[in-house]
Amino acid sequence: MPRRYHPALVTLHWLLALFLIGALIAGRFVLTPQDNADPAKLISFTMHMGLGLTILALMLVRLGVRLGTAHPPRVLTGQPLPDRLAPLTHWALYAVAIAMSVSGIVMSRQTGLPDAVFGDGPMPADFAEVPARAVHGGLSLLLMALIALHVAAALWHQFIRRDGLMARMWFGPR
Ligand code: HEM
Ligand code: HEM
Repeated sequence: MPRRYHPALVTLHWLLALFLIGALIAGRFVLTPQDNADPAKLISFTMHMGLGLTILALMLVRLGVRLGTAHPPRVLTGQPLPDRLAPLTHWALYAVAIAMSVSGIVMSRQTGLPDAVFGDGPMPADFAEVPARAVHGGLSLLLMALIALHVAAALWHQFIRRDGLMARMWFGPR
């Protein structure tokens, strides 16, 4: 068994960490507060939708790489809660990140957003009328909580348990 994750997975892990955290922060603090009648919102939407679709494509490639490459053995701490939570959290991160993009696509199609962003259709007055809006907002909170838990666990391993877990998600001889 290798000592580290495949370099393609390492690259995708850190690139997607940047993209996902960026999309979450920009979505909540830049996109949502903007008024739909504000012409500048079109630029925010172009960026948000472009980033969201890129995340979806890269998450699917990453899932393929994760399933198709050898990975290091599980690190067991001997404590039932973290040992059970770790794989659950990892698969939930995949599922929720993908579901975020899918709910974003459903919401934008149901409100005619692509016609407004890429054509000259009218901007939707409000997204709240479609249930996908609530799903997208709810999933964004869940994803933030999962990322916070995951980062806290990584720091716990690195600085308290000192079991060198961070090096497994970095480049070097496998
Ligand atoms: C920026 C802060 C982050 C840090 C410090 C971090 C750290 C790590 C580390 C050290 C591992 C290796 C775990 C092991 O060896 O078993 C790992 C794995 C993993 N991380 Fe992160 N991570 C971060 C952000 C994220 C984000 C935003 C996601 C969201 C998708 C994510 C998803 C995963 C997944 C799914 C794995 C398991 C390996 C895989 O299937 O890719 N991480 N992370
Ligand atoms: C993983 C990818 C994505 C992430 C992390 C993400 C994140 C977010 C966040 C955090 C919000 C604000 C939620 C709130 O304040 O309740 C938001 C709003 C929104 N997102 Fe996404 N999003 C993603 C993908 C997409 C995609 C692919 C589309 C469309 C094709 C999209 C369309 C929208 C729309 C229309 C809104 C509502 C803006 C408003 O209410 O004014 N998102 N997104």
